[in-house]
Amino acid sequence: MANKKFTVSSFLKAKQKGEKISMLTAYDYSTAKLLDEAGVDSLLVGDSLGMVMLGYENTLQVTVDDIIHHCRAVARGAKRAMVIGDMPFLSYHVSIEDTIRNAGRIIQEGNAHAVKLEGCMEVIDKIKAIVKAQIPVMGHLGLTPQSINVFGGFKVQGKTEKQAKRIIEEALMLQEAGVFAVVLECVPEKLARIITEKLDIPTIGIGAGKYCDGQVLVTQDMLGMYTDFIPKFVKKYASLCEDIKNATQNYIKEIKEGIFPSDEHTFGIDESILEKLY
Ligand code: KIV
Repeated sequence: MANKKFTVSSFLKAKQKGEKISMLTAYDYSTAKLLDEAGVDSLLVGDSLGMVMLGYENTLQVTVDDIIHHCRAVARGAKRAMVIGDMPFLSYHVSIEDTIRNAGRIIQEGNAHAVKLEGCMEVIDKIKAIVKAQIPVMGHLGLTPQSINVFGGFKVQGKTEKQAKRIIEEALMLQEAGVFAVVLECVPEKLARIITEKLDIPTIGIGAGKYCDGQVLVTQDMLGMYTDFIPKFVKKYASLCEDIKNATQNYIKEIKEGIFPSDEHTFGIDESILEKLY
């Protein structure tokens, strides 16, 4: 399994075998290459790139062109991992034609293997149309950040009976529409468990507890590189913020003190040529 390409069918097989799926976000070539070499199953070029890479306050300003640009870089770095491109705000709302074109561009120009999009009922006709166009779709329910203005902030979803029932209903509806997996973001663990048990397709949790079939985190959160906003569900597996700051301070210090560059990092020239240059 280790070197075999991870595909849509690997998602389904993993669920059937009870093997957990690992997924991380990636936005650039060198990070994608590292994560892929480390063995992650899938790389998501999430619209979180707006916040993490571009410094926006939320994901709403991200465009299809942004996603394509970053997808191309990630796809070059991913040898085994399946690359999924996020469909940004308003790229799947206007019309079916517009939606298929945008999803198609993420596959054709971005070299992604699948697309992900948020929501269900309001866009179910668009989801079905993308699936019909032979483009694999990953769903995304619960806290869907593109609806932040409707939710009134980054809040846990599915805590009331009405909300929880709706998320269950939508998960089943997405499965029926042909999506190959569903991200569950910021929902109570026991609700995610019910959904995971009801679905034949895998659930990928982020802030949805241990019963999901897989997990996804924003890589910069997981590596401790992004500190503007750290959600409760993030576990830091490294503190690269400190490493990067320490390394940068050392670099600055060595420049100021004339320590860097030393002979080791410098090119020489033959003395006989040098003499002729004065
Ligand atoms: O944009 C993103 O990175 C996401 C994940 C957090 C699921 O949608």
